Amino acid sequence: MDIFKLLTTRRSVRTFDGQPLSAEDVQNIREYIENIPNPYGIPVRFVYMDAKEMGLSSPVITGEAAYIAGIVEKVPHREEAFGFSFERMVMHLWSRGIGTTWIAGTFKREFFEKAAGVKENEVMYCVTPVGYPAKKKSIKEVAMRKGVGADKRKDGAELFFEGGFTKPFAAADEGLKQALEAVRWAPSAVNKQPWRIIKDGNAFHFYLKHDKNYATADGGDLQKVDMGIALCHFIDMTGGSLNVADPGVETPEGIEYIASVTV
Ligand SMILES: Cc1cc2nc3c(=O)[nH]c(=O)nc-3n(C[C@H](O)[C@H](O)[C@H](O)COP(=O)(O)O)c2cc1C
Repeated sequence: MDIFKLLTTRRSVRTFDGQPLSAEDVQNIREYIENIPNPYGIPVRFVYMDAKEMGLSSPVITGEAAYIAGIVEKVPHREEAFGFSFERMVMHLWSRGIGTTWIAGTFKREFFEKAAGVKENEVMYCVTPVGYPAKKKSIKEVAMRKGVGADKRKDGAELFFEGGFTKPFAAADEGLKQALEAVRWAPSAVNKQPWRIIKDGNAFHFYLKHDKNYATADGGDLQKVDMGIALCHFIDMTGGSLNVADPGVETPEGIEYIASVTV
């Protein structure tokens, strides 16, 4: 499957078929998660944990084979780096027919942190269950998707701009159009889609439109993890390069500059 199709057809999977992953898949995952780089150069480490062996579960997930935790040191830009590397893993798994769901809230955090061996100087923003998707979604999963409008996304006119935050940008170039569409369909916490992009020549400035209550216990911001996911989709589509240098565009209240990608 091509990368655009992968990025735009991924969905959270909360109902798995109850089967263990094949030995080949487990080996592939274990090798893949050893090193998943991100353009911030901040290492994100991953821990693969068998669900039964470790007694791990989540009230919104059924039939999962295992969990993977993502862990990062408490350094500046850790959230974006985490989002980027974790989403790379999610897409790698999806390309092999393995389902995932980003989980930051609906699990016993302390229990998972202990199981994954999170150290004092580290933070584990999210885990994901892994397994083969069941044919039919559980009633709980259907209700959850409906609750957050998981099958919908904001219109491009609300997300993409040119020259400032007043003029919407619609790409004419097919490659760019697909790159923005891939950002639009990215997953985000509570499906808030906090990313906003301003095009300025061949630079694309990424901004975070803050919602309330996404502060994390380590002094971070869960919506910056969402921003890392959006950057991952855009860079994987365009091959652009990341730099962090605020262009000084006038921003409405509650909007924060995150990073720029030059294509
Ligand atoms: C950072 C982050 C945290 C999330 N936390 C949870 C969670 O705790 N529980 C859950 O069921 N889904 C969680 N999700 C999944 C989102 O609800 C989901 O991605 C969104 O509704 C869009 O649906 P989709 O992934 O099927 O496209 C989270 C997603 C992200 C990116």
